Amino acid sequence: MPLVSMNGILAAAAKEGYAVGAFNPVDYASMKAIMCAAEEENAPVILQTSAKTVRYYGHETLAMWMRELAEQSAIPAVLHLDHGKELEMIRRCIETGWTSVMIDASHLPFEQNLAMSREVVDMATAAGVGVEAELGEIVGVEEDISVSEEDAHLADPDKAEIFCRELELGVFAPAIGTGHGFYKGTPKVDFDLIEEIYGRTATPLALHGGTGLSDDIIQRCIRSGCAKINISTHLKHAFVDGFSNYHKTNPDDYEPLKVLGAQFEVMKQLLREKIRQFGGSGKGRQLAAVL
Ligand code: 13P
Repeated sequence: MPLVSMNGILAAAAKEGYAVGAFNPVDYASMKAIMCAAEEENAPVILQTSAKTVRYYGHETLAMWMRELAEQSAIPAVLHLDHGKELEMIRRCIETGWTSVMIDASHLPFEQNLAMSREVVDMATAAGVGVEAELGEIVGVEEDISVSEEDAHLADPDKAEIFCRELELGVFAPAIGTGHGFYKGTPKVDFDLIEEIYGRTATPLALHGGTGLSDDIIQRCIRSGCAKINISTHLKHAFVDGFSNYHKTNPDDYEPLKVLGAQFEVMKQLLREKIRQFGGSGKGRQLAAVL
Protein backbone atom coordinates (compact mmCIF):
# COMPACT_ATOMS: atom_id res chain seq x y z
CA MET A 1 0.00 0.00 0.00
CA PRO A 2 1.17 3.61 -0.40
CA LEU A 3 2.99 5.27 2.49
CA VAL A 4 0.60 6.78 5.05
CA SER A 5 0.69 9.86 7.28
CA MET A 6 1.57 9.26 10.92
CA ASN A 7 -1.54 10.99 12.29
CA GLY A 8 -4.06 8.19 11.65
CA ILE A 9 -1.95 5.33 12.91
CA LEU A 10 -0.92 7.14 16.09
CA ALA A 11 -4.47 8.21 16.85
CA ALA A 12 -5.50 4.54 16.58
CA ALA A 13 -2.56 3.37 18.73
CA ALA A 14 -3.30 5.97 21.45
CA LYS A 15 -6.97 4.96 21.48
CA GLU A 16 -6.21 1.24 21.74
CA GLY A 17 -3.32 1.59 24.22
CA TYR A 18 -0.31 0.40 22.26
CA ALA A 19 2.68 2.15 20.67
CA VAL A 20 3.99 2.12 17.13
CA GLY A 21 7.72 1.38 16.79
CA ALA A 22 9.68 4.13 15.05
CA PHE A 23 13.01 2.79 13.82
CA ASN A 24 15.94 4.59 12.15
CA PRO A 25 17.19 2.73 9.04
CA VAL A 26 20.70 3.47 7.79
CA ASP A 27 20.55 1.79 4.36
CA TYR A 28 18.26 -0.21 2.07
CA ALA A 29 18.82 -3.49 3.98
CA SER A 30 17.83 -1.98 7.32
CA MET A 31 14.76 -0.39 5.70
CA LYS A 32 13.82 -3.79 4.30
CA ALA A 33 14.43 -5.47 7.68
CA ILE A 34 12.06 -2.97 9.34
CA MET A 35 9.37 -3.57 6.70
CA CYS A 36 9.78 -7.38 6.88
CA ALA A 37 9.59 -7.36 10.67
CA ALA A 38 6.43 -5.22 10.58
CA GLU A 39 4.93 -7.42 7.87
CA GLU A 40 5.64 -10.62 9.83
CA GLU A 41 4.20 -9.06 12.99
CA ASN A 42 1.29 -7.57 11.00
CA ALA A 43 1.95 -4.21 12.65
CA PRO A 44 1.93 -0.56 11.58
CA VAL A 45 5.43 0.89 11.52
CA ILE A 46 7.35 4.17 11.25
CA LEU A 47 10.64 4.39 9.37
CA GLN A 48 12.40 7.54 10.45
CA THR A 49 15.44 8.85 8.67
CA SER A 50 17.90 11.06 10.51
CA ALA A 51 18.91 14.25 8.70
CA LYS A 52 22.42 12.74 8.50
CA THR A 53 21.07 9.73 6.59
CA VAL A 54 19.13 12.02 4.25
CA ARG A 55 22.31 13.98 3.50
CA TYR A 56 24.24 10.74 2.92
CA TYR A 57 21.90 9.15 0.34
CA GLY A 58 19.89 12.13 -0.90
CA HIS A 59 16.12 12.63 -0.68
CA GLU A 60 15.18 10.91 -3.96
CA THR A 61 17.03 7.66 -3.27
CA LEU A 62 15.57 7.17 0.21
CA ALA A 63 12.06 8.07 -0.94
CA MET A 64 12.31 5.68 -3.90
CA TRP A 65 13.51 2.75 -1.72
CA MET A 66 10.78 3.41 0.78
CA ARG A 67 7.97 3.79 -1.77
CA GLU A 68 8.98 0.52 -3.40
CA LEU A 69 9.06 -1.38 -0.09
CA ALA A 70 5.73 0.08 1.05
CA GLU A 71 4.01 -0.72 -2.28
CA GLN A 72 4.94 -4.40 -1.87
CA SER A 73 3.50 -4.50 1.63
CA ALA A 74 -0.01 -4.65 3.07
CA ILE A 75 0.75 -2.94 6.38
CA PRO A 76 0.62 0.83 6.98
CA ALA A 77 4.12 2.36 6.92
CA VAL A 78 5.19 5.95 7.47
CA LEU A 79 8.31 7.64 6.12
CA HIS A 80 9.21 10.19 8.79
CA LEU A 81 12.06 12.70 9.14
CA ASP A 82 13.59 12.46 12.63
CA HIS A 83 14.89 15.67 14.31
CA GLY A 84 14.61 18.00 11.30
CA LYS A 85 16.32 21.25 12.19
CA GLU A 86 16.55 22.98 8.82
CA LEU A 87 13.44 24.27 7.05
CA GLU A 88 14.97 23.62 3.63
CA MET A 89 15.59 19.94 4.35
CA ILE A 90 12.05 19.59 5.74
CA ARG A 91 10.59 21.27 2.65
CA ARG A 92 12.50 18.87 0.35
CA CYS A 93 11.29 15.88 2.37
CA ILE A 94 7.69 17.01 1.96
CA GLU A 95 8.20 17.52 -1.78
CA THR A 96 9.92 14.17 -2.38
CA GLY A 97 7.49 11.87 -0.54
CA TRP A 98 8.04 11.82 3.24
CA THR A 99 4.62 11.39 4.85
CA SER A 100 5.64 12.85 8.20
CA VAL A 101 8.32 15.28 9.41
CA MET A 102 9.73 16.30 12.77
CA ILE A 103 10.70 19.88 13.43
CA ASP A 104 13.11 20.01 16.33
CA ALA A 105 13.50 23.64 17.36
CA SER A 106 13.67 22.66 21.04
CA HIS A 107 17.03 24.43 21.50
CA LEU A 108 15.34 27.78 20.77
CA PRO A 109 13.40 29.94 23.27
CA PHE A 110 9.73 28.92 23.54
CA GLU A 111 8.26 31.62 21.25
CA GLN A 112 10.82 30.93 18.53
CA ASN A 113 10.30 27.17 18.82
CA LEU A 114 6.56 27.75 18.47
CA ALA A 115 6.98 30.06 15.45
CA MET A 116 9.33 27.70 13.60
CA SER A 117 7.15 24.68 14.38
CA ARG A 118 4.10 26.61 13.15
CA GLU A 119 5.84 27.31 9.86
CA VAL A 120 6.45 23.57 9.40
CA VAL A 121 2.88 22.66 10.39
CA ASP A 122 1.51 25.09 7.77
CA MET A 123 3.80 23.74 5.06
CA ALA A 124 3.19 20.07 5.94
CA THR A 125 -0.57 20.27 6.49
CA ALA A 126 -1.06 21.77 3.03
CA ALA A 127 0.65 18.65 1.62
CA GLY A 128 -1.23 16.15 3.83
CA VAL A 129 1.94 15.38 5.80
CA GLY A 130 1.93 14.90 9.59
CA VAL A 131 4.18 16.79 12.02
CA GLU A 132 6.07 15.99 15.22
CA ALA A 133 7.54 18.85 17.29
CA GLU A 134 9.64 18.87 20.46
CA LEU A 135 9.56 20.83 23.70
CA GLY A 136 12.20 20.71 26.45
CA GLU A 137 15.64 19.30 25.65
CA ILE A 138 16.37 15.58 25.50
CA VAL A 139 19.73 14.50 26.89
CA GLY A 140 22.29 12.68 24.68
CA VAL A 141 23.72 12.94 21.17
CA GLU A 142 21.46 13.32 18.16
CA GLU A 143 22.55 14.63 14.76
CA ASP A 144 26.04 15.26 16.18
CA ILE A 145 24.51 17.73 18.65
CA SER A 146 25.19 16.75 22.21
CA VAL A 147 22.85 17.85 25.02
CA SER A 148 24.52 17.40 28.41
CA GLU A 149 22.73 16.40 31.64
CA GLU A 150 23.07 20.01 32.86
CA ASP A 151 21.58 21.51 29.68
CA ALA A 152 18.75 19.00 29.34
CA HIS A 153 15.44 20.11 30.80
CA LEU A 154 12.05 18.48 30.98
CA ALA A 155 9.03 19.94 29.20
CA ASP A 156 6.91 22.38 31.18
CA PRO A 157 3.24 21.21 31.22
CA ASP A 158 1.82 24.77 30.93
CA LYS A 159 3.98 25.46 27.89
CA ALA A 160 3.16 22.01 26.49
CA GLU A 161 -0.55 22.83 26.67
CA ILE A 162 -0.08 26.14 24.82
CA PHE A 163 2.26 24.50 22.28
CA CYS A 164 -0.24 21.76 21.39
CA ARG A 165 -3.21 24.14 21.39
CA GLU A 166 -1.44 26.43 18.92
CA LEU A 167 -0.19 23.64 16.66
CA GLU A 168 -1.99 20.80 14.95
CA LEU A 169 0.48 18.00 15.67
CA GLY A 170 0.26 14.32 14.74
CA VAL A 171 2.60 13.59 17.64
CA PHE A 172 4.24 15.67 20.36
CA ALA A 173 7.74 15.02 21.76
CA PRO A 174 8.11 16.51 25.26
CA ALA A 175 11.36 15.84 27.16
CA ILE A 176 10.27 13.47 29.95
CA GLY A 177 13.55 12.16 31.36
CA THR A 178 14.65 9.72 28.65
CA GLY A 179 17.79 10.28 26.55
CA HIS A 180 19.39 9.22 23.27
CA GLY A 181 21.90 6.34 23.33
CA PHE A 182 22.43 3.52 25.86
CA TYR A 183 21.77 4.59 29.49
CA LYS A 184 24.63 4.61 31.98
CA GLY A 185 22.28 4.07 34.96
CA THR A 186 18.52 3.79 35.36
CA PRO A 187 16.89 6.82 33.69
CA LYS A 188 14.59 8.98 35.83
CA VAL A 189 11.49 8.93 33.66
CA ASP A 190 8.81 11.29 34.94
CA PHE A 191 5.61 9.25 34.48
CA ASP A 192 3.47 11.85 36.26
CA LEU A 193 4.70 14.46 33.80
CA ILE A 194 3.85 12.21 30.83
CA GLU A 195 0.34 11.67 32.21
CA GLU A 196 -0.18 15.34 32.93
CA ILE A 197 1.04 16.42 29.48
CA TYR A 198 -1.05 13.78 27.70
CA GLY A 199 -4.09 14.71 29.80
CA ARG A 200 -3.73 18.40 29.01
CA THR A 201 -2.77 18.13 25.31
CA ALA A 202 -4.75 15.05 24.17
CA THR A 203 -1.98 14.59 21.57
CA PRO A 204 -0.23 11.21 21.13
CA LEU A 205 3.26 11.45 22.61
CA ALA A 206 6.61 10.32 21.19
CA LEU A 207 9.08 8.55 23.48
CA HIS A 208 12.60 9.46 22.36
CA GLY A 209 15.54 7.39 23.57
CA GLY A 210 13.85 3.97 23.50
CA THR A 211 17.15 2.04 23.46
CA GLY A 212 17.91 0.29 26.74
CA LEU A 213 14.68 1.08 28.61
CA SER A 214 13.36 -1.76 30.79
CA ASP A 215 10.09 -3.42 29.85
CA ASP A 216 8.51 -1.94 32.99
CA ILE A 217 9.43 1.62 31.91
CA ILE A 218 8.24 1.00 28.34
CA GLN A 219 4.84 -0.35 29.51
CA ARG A 220 4.34 2.53 31.97
CA CYS A 221 5.20 5.06 29.25
CA ILE A 222 2.65 3.49 26.90
CA ARG A 223 0.00 3.49 29.64
CA SER A 224 0.78 7.16 30.37
CA GLY A 225 0.28 8.33 26.75
CA CYS A 226 3.29 7.43 24.58
CA ALA A 227 2.07 6.10 21.23
CA LYS A 228 5.37 6.29 19.27
CA ILE A 229 8.57 4.72 20.59
CA ASN A 230 11.88 5.63 18.92
CA ILE A 231 14.68 3.09 18.61
CA SER A 232 17.88 4.04 16.83
CA THR A 233 21.00 3.08 18.81
CA HIS A 234 19.92 -0.54 19.41
CA LEU A 235 19.31 -1.04 15.69
CA LYS A 236 22.70 0.49 14.84
CA HIS A 237 24.31 -2.06 17.16
CA ALA A 238 22.41 -4.93 15.54
CA PHE A 239 23.52 -3.63 12.12
CA VAL A 240 27.24 -3.57 13.01
CA ASP A 241 27.32 -6.58 15.37
CA GLY A 242 25.18 -8.71 13.01
CA PHE A 243 27.80 -8.23 10.31
CA SER A 244 30.95 -8.48 12.40
CA ASN A 245 29.83 -11.40 14.58
CA TYR A 246 29.09 -13.49 11.48
CA HIS A 247 32.59 -12.77 10.23
CA LYS A 248 34.15 -13.60 13.60
CA THR A 249 32.45 -17.02 13.67
CA ASN A 250 32.98 -17.66 9.92
CA PRO A 251 36.37 -16.04 9.22
CA ASP A 252 36.87 -17.86 5.90
CA ASP A 253 33.47 -16.99 4.43
CA TYR A 254 33.84 -14.11 2.00
CA GLU A 255 30.46 -14.52 0.33
CA PRO A 256 28.99 -11.03 0.97
CA LEU A 257 25.38 -12.08 0.51
CA LYS A 258 25.71 -14.63 3.33
CA VAL A 259 27.16 -11.98 5.64
CA LEU A 260 24.38 -9.56 4.66
CA GLY A 261 21.79 -12.30 5.20
CA ALA A 262 23.07 -12.92 8.73
CA GLN A 263 23.07 -9.19 9.49
CA PHE A 264 19.51 -8.90 8.13
CA GLU A 265 18.25 -11.72 10.40
CA VAL A 266 19.80 -10.13 13.52
CA MET A 267 18.12 -6.80 12.72
CA LYS A 268 14.78 -8.39 11.90
CA GLN A 269 14.67 -10.43 15.12
CA LEU A 270 15.39 -7.34 17.23
CA LEU A 271 12.72 -5.34 15.39
CA ARG A 272 10.10 -8.08 15.76
CA GLU A 273 10.83 -8.27 19.48
CA LYS A 274 10.41 -4.48 19.85
CA ILE A 275 7.18 -4.37 17.85
CA ARG A 276 5.73 -7.18 20.04
CA GLN A 277 6.89 -5.44 23.22
CA PHE A 278 5.17 -2.18 22.17
CA GLY A 279 1.90 -4.05 21.51
CA GLY A 280 1.59 -3.33 17.77
CA SER A 281 1.49 -6.96 16.59
CA GLY A 282 -1.72 -8.01 14.81
CA LYS A 283 -2.94 -4.43 14.23
CA GLY A 284 -1.52 -3.73 10.77
CA ARG A 285 -3.90 -5.03 8.10
CA GLN A 286 -7.03 -4.21 10.11
CA LEU A 287 -5.77 -0.63 10.48
CA ALA A 288 -4.82 -0.45 6.78
CA ALA A 289 -8.45 -1.18 5.90
CA VAL A 290 -9.77 1.91 7.74
CA LEU A 291 -7.07 4.46 6.87
P1 13P B 1 17.94 5.87 20.83
O1 13P B 1 19.12 6.10 19.91
O2 13P B 1 18.29 6.01 22.26
O3 13P B 1 17.26 4.59 20.51
O4 13P B 1 16.89 7.05 20.56
C1 13P B 1 16.33 7.16 19.29
C2 13P B 1 15.57 8.42 19.13
O5 13P B 1 14.92 8.89 20.03
C3 13P B 1 15.63 9.04 17.80
O6 13P B 1 14.99 10.27 17.77
